[in-house]
Amino acid sequence: MKAIQLEKPQHFRRIDLPEPSAPGPGEALVRVHRVGICGTDYSGYLGKMPFYSYPRIPGHELGVEVVAVGEGVINVRKGDHCAVEPYINCQTCSSCRRGHTNCCENHQTLGVHCDGGLRPQFLVPARKLHVSRTLAFEQLALVETLGIGCHAINRGNPQPNESVLVIGAGPIGLSVIEFAKISGARTIVMDLSEPRLDFCKTVMGVKHTIVAKGDGAEIERLKELTDGSMPHVVVDATGSQKSMTQALTYCAFAGRLVFVGITSQEIAVPHPLMHRRELSLLASRNALAPDFTRIIRLIEEGTIDTRPWITHRTGFDDVIGQFPNWLKPESGVIKAVVEIGIE
Ligand SMILES: NC(=O)c1ccc[n+]([C@@H]2O[C@H](COP(=O)([O-])OP(=O)(O)OC[C@H]3O[C@@H](n4cnc5c(N)ncnc54)[C@H](O)[C@@H]3O)[C@@H](O)[C@H]2O)c1
Ligand SMILES: [Zn+2]
Ligand SMILES: [Zn+2]
Repeated sequence: MKAIQLEKPQHFRRIDLPEPSAPGPGEALVRVHRVGICGTDYSGYLGKMPFYSYPRIPGHELGVEVVAVGEGVINVRKGDHCAVEPYINCQTCSSCRRGHTNCCENHQTLGVHCDGGLRPQFLVPARKLHVSRTLAFEQLALVETLGIGCHAINRGNPQPNESVLVIGAGPIGLSVIEFAKISGARTIVMDLSEPRLDFCKTVMGVKHTIVAKGDGAEIERLKELTDGSMPHVVVDATGSQKSMTQALTYCAFAGRLVFVGITSQEIAVPHPLMHRRELSLLASRNALAPDFTRIIRLIEEGTIDTRPWITHRTGFDDVIGQFPNWLKPESGVIKAVVEIGIE
């Protein structure tokens, strides 16, 4: 069985793997049909992802089909089409026992800390599979990305009479925007990139966008859009230390700031401002199993449509050649999807 492995930063290779064994108790053997590529994969390729280890088979955004199940598996059966919750948790640490399976103390993400889905078949704990009877594999592969936005909005918990500012309109920001809109709060999106803001306006139906120029004009614009109060929830999805530091100044009194983007640098916050406004600062990591169930339902019923996000598709044999191109801004990639097998 052929697989694609990132042997070390900037160096993919094809490897031969033995056929997987039959699934053990609680496991499922799955055939991989679609793999979404995201910023984490690009950072892993560039050697800029602090938690990434090598060599590694990438792939954590997966649309799969169940080939066989092991003893005791009742949530899925052979032939089921599923999204994969790629967060492998230990089930025993204090975090897991309290239901925070997204931030297990011994957490491993498929394709980041352990091998992922850029291979025809693999074994996965069956409890990490979420079935849909109607979605295409490509739609199932995008459920995980949406999970990141869903969890970030759950953390910020905007109410219908509040406003949300999403900073950064990359794929993670787009997934946040979907759930900001569903919350009923007034949704504002800010980015440096005008084409990305245009996409938000024309495809995502976002009414209010702001080009971040860093000249203070954005504060005036935010005041105008929020009746002077400033946004009640700010979600920073940039991964930029500069933006994350600045983001606190965009929050309303008693506001919540959610960091869903990740930086490896330190963030310094002006405490007088934080104290005076009694701001809450929240991290947001991964997503929870009920988020996957909810997202599948939202796509099935047509509330969310991620198909316009997929700008690039490629076959398994072309991934190694194509991957470096997707890193170039001029490629215009929002989401690239790898097709393995025929749907
Ligand atoms: N919380 C999680 O579990 C989780 C999961 C996956 C990815 N991430 C992180 O989410 C972040 C975003 O991922 P992505 O794939 O969407 O990245 P991306 O690079 O495609 O998008 C980031 C966007 O932010 C914009 N931006 C950068 N600096 C800005 C600034 N100063 N002001 C306004 N906009 C600015 C960019 O123009 C870009 O459109 C990354 O840091 C990634 O590591 C978090
Ligand atoms: Zn991802
Ligand atoms: Zn755990």
